[in-house]
Amino acid sequence: MNEQERSGGRLGSGQPPEGFTVRLTEPAAGRAIFILILYRGGPSNVFRGFLDSHQVLDYSKTHDVYTNLSLFTQAPNEETMPYCSAQSPIFVGPLTITFRVLPSERMIIKKNPFVQAGGLYRPPHCLARYRSAILVAYRNQEKYLRHLLYYIHPFLQRQQLSYSIYLIQQVGNGTFNRAKLLNVGVREAMKDEDWDCLLLHDVNLVPENDYNLYVCDEYYPKHMSSAMDKFQYTLPYKSFFGGVSALTPEHYMKMNGFPNTYWGGGGENDDIATRIQLAGMKIVRTPPHLGRYKVMDYNEETKTQEPWRSPTSRHNTRKTWKDDGMNSLEFKLLSRTKHPLYTNITVDIGYVPPFS
Ligand SMILES: *[C@@H]1O[C@H](CO)[C@@H](O)[C@H](O)[C@H]1NC(C)=O
Ligand SMILES: *[C@@H]1O[C@H](CO)[C@@H](O)[C@H](O)[C@H]1NC(C)=O
Ligand SMILES: *[C@@H]1O[C@H](CO)[C@@H](O)[C@H](O)[C@H]1NC(C)=O
Repeated sequence: MNEQERSGGRLGSGQPPEGFTVRLTEPAAGRAIFILILYRGGPSNVFRGFLDSHQVLDYSKTHDVYTNLSLFTQAPNEETMPYCSAQSPIFVGPLTITFRVLPSERMIIKKNPFVQAGGLYRPPHCLARYRSAILVAYRNQEKYLRHLLYYIHPFLQRQQLSYSIYLIQQVGNGTFNRAKLLNVGVREAMKDEDWDCLLLHDVNLVPENDYNLYVCDEYYPKHMSSAMDKFQYTLPYKSFFGGVSALTPEHYMKMNGFPNTYWGGGGENDDIATRIQLAGMKIVRTPPHLGRYKVMDYNEETKTQEPWRSPTSRHNTRKTWKDDGMNSLEFKLLSRTKHPLYTNITVDIGYVPPFS
């Protein structure tokens, strides 16, 4: 009885054939769990070969991000719950995204009944194959945050991931330091759980296709937002690493995290791209037909955003990366609270050059 089928890509770092299928019967269950643990090593390859339907890429036909999510219901017995299917049964491809009406917090909570305090989710119907932490550096962008939460929660649930959403909030009026806040986020998130993947996510970006999987590449840091509407769905320049990226904790530590010393917008992303290289890695990207994102209010934003400022000292990443990053990170944790839709980490990141 209970014959289950699992299909997917490749095991660990070996090279089994694409699209292998393992048939499991009850006596094989122990071995099967072992296989599946190995199998967790190469999740980014799991879904290759599924993109054969052109519907997946037809952006003129979009679907609501909550479509069929209610098909995921609580399994009667958690102990005998099967692993989630390699491909989610409710994928629709391109999603309908609009920022015209601001959703209320109450409505978002109501539409996501399985999200627990702190923005934590485990699929109710199956054992997740993969755990991703979503880290958002944040300051006073309530409107963006609300839109993001409305879309990102169901988006991640569609992918049958275990996940948590962390907001890392910088207090005070000083210049924003996205990279340092993300370092703080990584340190704090890893205290909760041994995450498979860290998704570093700008608050004003929303993914447009549910096949854009929020899982890491096994070998290299992955840039997810390879096609933003703001840049006419192309990369603004070759080494661009801004927006949304996915790194395993190992990738992150190997490059000593992000620099703590960039203030204001922009410069840190080039430093990060350089660090990746210096740490012996390279950037891989989600293909542009899947890595599509809508950017909120970018016309308005360019009018009101903090002026781009060049770093106060000349950064020489080659010299500084080993000393400036996770190993030199200092901050004061002011509070850590569980909002129904996210974990709110508020930090004083120390001296910040005044924003004027
Ligand atoms: C929703 O699920 C039903 C039942 O499985 C299926 O028939 C339908 O095609 C799904 N809708 C979409 C848009 O995928
Ligand atoms: C932030 O700016 C406001 C208005 O300029 C000021 O009243 C407040 O004291 C500042 N707060 C900090 C922490 O510097
Ligand atoms: C996060 O927590 C801080 C401190 O408790 C609070 O002032 C702030 O409003 C919270 N931010 C969000 C977006 O929930």
